[in-house]
Amino acid sequence: MPRFDPHPDRRPALVAGASSGIGAATATALAAAGHPVALGARRADRCEELAAAIRAGGGEAFAHPLDVGDSDSVKAFAAAAEDALGPAEVLVSGAGDLSADRLHDLDPDAFLAQVQVHLVGAHRLVAQVCPGMVRRRRGDVVLVSSDVVRAPRTRMGAYVAAKNGVEGMARALQMELEGTGVRASIVRPGPTATGMGMDWDPRVTGEVLDEWVRWGLARHPYFLRPSDVAAAVATVVSAPRGAHLTLVEVQPEAPLEEG
Ligand SMILES: NC(=O)c1ccc[n+]([C@@H]2O[C@H](COP(=O)([O-])OP(=O)(O)OC[C@H]3O[C@@H](n4cnc5c(N)ncnc54)[C@H](OP(=O)(O)O)[C@@H]3O)[C@@H](O)[C@H]2O)c1
Repeated sequence: MPRFDPHPDRRPALVAGASSGIGAATATALAAAGHPVALGARRADRCEELAAAIRAGGGEAFAHPLDVGDSDSVKAFAAAAEDALGPAEVLVSGAGDLSADRLHDLDPDAFLAQVQVHLVGAHRLVAQVCPGMVRRRRGDVVLVSSDVVRAPRTRMGAYVAAKNGVEGMARALQMELEGTGVRASIVRPGPTATGMGMDWDPRVTGEVLDEWVRWGLARHPYFLRPSDVAAAVATVVSAPRGAHLTLVEVQPEAPLEEG
């Protein structure tokens, strides 16, 4: 006798931070895997464009404005997604941004803003969506973290603090959800070529990269594509019930050495 019912055929997925980068690629990958997807971000027009492209390709997609910094917005997004697609079977928390300041130069309000979007925002999503999953006795929650948790980087101390908070919260969530049928997982990307950091002054970017080299944090110049991280998210949520990929770290492979 199987210990678990298989995943249902229809698994609506909510993707927070779907207007660009890893979130957009994740919505695309999950739709390609057959999930109806709800795309949320502040730039709702970009989510709608991507949702239209997914629908044009034969997928099922819905877009709605989402600001994870605002509990009412999270509630409205989750409710609209449920009306459009049905109860959430998958939640991907990938909203975020990044500033390039040293901690001692960083305004405490800017520090708080980073914690708000990455950590408190992730919790707002969990608090909104998880209880229904627990009632239905199944679901996947994927929290997008960062390899800065394993190897902190300079000039992003607030981000490092927030992502450590995300992983701490995820670990506690995994324990609390044990036996409920709901799987909480961490996907921890390494450097990925997305919109993140692209708005930095090029002079600052140069300084930051030099610092990372000094700290041994830039072993080679390759970056992941957003689709590489999206593939990891899709793998996590498609793991058969009874198996739980609790933490998946994705790193860019180094270029082949001469020879
Ligand atoms: N790029 C990397 O090297 C890297 C490495 C490790 C982890 N990550 C993580 O991957 C996740 C996605 O980042 P990315 O690299 O794909 O960057 P990105 O291209 O800048 O995407 C960030 C997404 O978050 C959304 N977002 C930001 N603030 C939001 C808010 N308050 N409410 C709702 N959505 C919000 C943005 O949309 P709007 O601006 O339209 O709201 C955008 O869709 C983040 O959690 C990031 O920390 C990235």
